[in-house]
Amino acid sequence: MATTTGAFIAGGIAACGAVTVTHSFETVKIRLQLQGELQSKGDAVKKYRGVLHGVKVILQNEGARGLFRGIDSAYIYQILLNGCRLGFYEPIRKGLTTTVYDDPSVQSLGINVFSGATSGIIGAACASPFFLVKTRLQSYSPFLPVGTQHQYRNSFDGLRKIYTAEGAGGLYRGVGAAMVRTGFGSSVQLPTYFFAKRRLVKHLGMEEGPALHLASSTASGFVVCCVMHPPDTIMSRMYNQTGNLYKSAFDCLLQTVRTEGMLAIYKGYFAHLARILPHTILTLSLAEQTNKLMRRFEDRWLSDSLREKL
Ligand SMILES: *[C@@H]1O[C@H](CO)[C@@H](O)[C@H](O)[C@H]1NC(C)=O
Repeated sequence: MATTTGAFIAGGIAACGAVTVTHSFETVKIRLQLQGELQSKGDAVKKYRGVLHGVKVILQNEGARGLFRGIDSAYIYQILLNGCRLGFYEPIRKGLTTTVYDDPSVQSLGINVFSGATSGIIGAACASPFFLVKTRLQSYSPFLPVGTQHQYRNSFDGLRKIYTAEGAGGLYRGVGAAMVRTGFGSSVQLPTYFFAKRRLVKHLGMEEGPALHLASSTASGFVVCCVMHPPDTIMSRMYNQTGNLYKSAFDCLLQTVRTEGMLAIYKGYFAHLARILPHTILTLSLAEQTNKLMRRFEDRWLSDSLREKL
């Protein structure tokens, strides 16, 4: 096993690698979610017509730079989220398992899922300001703008401007929706993964190995995206607002469905799927490699006494 610090670094590198590959789809997703906000279907102008069209027009008008807007925030967000998951998961799991079973080594799916969701929610809350700035950077476009156009030069410039104008409350705008979104996503991920794995083994006779992991995480990715997308759309819209278009995340949901129809909460779904599927698969396979490298590095360079402290 790598040390906790080592696991944190290895996990961070893997997550950032996956983010780099999938960030373009995230940009398209946000623009799709925001376009036509609170307009009836007939009135809404469709500047972006879908995932591939979105990638194409952004590339044509803004170049690669347009697709990668907000990537610095995306990295920081991933590192913070990853850190909270690593830091809170085990203590929460151990505490609960000891309370319920009197033995911290018992593995209970229910408790594991709960601990995963709780540590994810804590991470989402801590890192929300970065997701906020990311959303605003990604919706900015000098050619086909959707959403409020904020002129932030980069993440820190964005954070500074929000703090100066609106104070800490401004930085935590939309944090409720962000917590719900991540809570939904994290709680279905593990159970659907194991469920898919069992079915694949039982019905298709698949065996333990990379192919089974790939198939199970793809199946789980579909479900995660279905559950997580509606609160994700609400979150994007809460992050866009600077005035007070919506009183709360729930108000946003009601107004969205009322004016744009039920399917509005699934705007940008395919772009989200295009991000989530490769993200999950890449994170898992990259993490295996970076963990291996980290272990080799630690074996070679760290003394035993130092390893115990990290
Ligand atoms: C974004 O937020 C502003 C209010 O701050 C609102 O006027 C606008 O309709 C929202 N959505 C879009 C797509 O611009």
